[in-house]
Amino acid sequence: NEIYLNGQFLPSDQAKVSVMDRGFLFGDGVYEVIPSYGGHCLRLDPHLDRLDASLAATGIANPLTREEWRSVFERLIGTPPAPDQSIYLQVTRGVAPERDHLCADGVEPTVMAVAKPLKPRKPEIATHGVACITRPDIRWLRGEIKSISLIAAVMMRREAEEAGALETIMVRDGMVTEGAVSNVFMVRDGNLVTPPTGHLLLPGITRQLALTLAEGHGMHFREEPFPIEDLRQADEIWLSSSTREVLPVTRLDGQAVGSGRPGPMWQRMDALYQDYKTQVR
Ligand code: PDD
Repeated sequence: NEIYLNGQFLPSDQAKVSVMDRGFLFGDGVYEVIPSYGGHCLRLDPHLDRLDASLAATGIANPLTREEWRSVFERLIGTPPAPDQSIYLQVTRGVAPERDHLCADGVEPTVMAVAKPLKPRKPEIATHGVACITRPDIRWLRGEIKSISLIAAVMMRREAEEAGALETIMVRDGMVTEGAVSNVFMVRDGNLVTPPTGHLLLPGITRQLALTLAEGHGMHFREEPFPIEDLRQADEIWLSSSTREVLPVTRLDGQAVGSGRPGPMWQRMDALYQDYKTQVR
């Protein structure tokens, strides 16, 4: 499996970065995860736009042009293209001569990208859904930046795993923000609702795609904050992410969500999403 590192494609055991890399020392970097189906990246430009936004917010220059990113991804996906892949890329501020929070001038960013097979969704997810737990949102207040500093998300995934759940849904000041690695939607009385973008959550590419699909197919939706109590009363809850698509949540903190089965609105959205995916192929 090849890894792109600073202009070279290397076997994974030869792709090495200095311990002085600021990604290693400070979590000083940003990343993206881009799904690719049959050799075509899904929503590539929105992902690269969000990368630009994360880099601009943290003051790291984008080391590659869009064309260069594209050709890196093409090479990682291979010829003929490997079927379904997820591309991980990260850019750190680079390797500085000493550990100082303020980075020395002239340090070049470290750029890495790798593709791995995207696991197909387990069939039981469509029939039974997944379980989630809720926890206080202990993260920082710049959730729109796709930062590699992910210790809070790691802690929450561990807690979910211990509770036999797939994901942790986070709550700040009584309001739902997002999952540890996904965005959250709820359906109440036929209306789809998701928290608005801003500093509190990542503007998920899958979230936006789901809203665009909803809009194009006459599904009512609102981007509006909602309290955790509303989530507990929801008819349906969904999670969205690039690697997991749109998932139905059927248990929240051990209680059934709505009917306890994946709901009709999710089935509609999933059909739209699957159809959209086949169009990029
Ligand atoms: N995570 N919110 C958070 C905090 C995330 O980490 C992610 C994605 C999302 C969904 O965003 P998108 O639809 O653009 O994938 C929301 C990726 C998949 C990860 O960290 O692996």
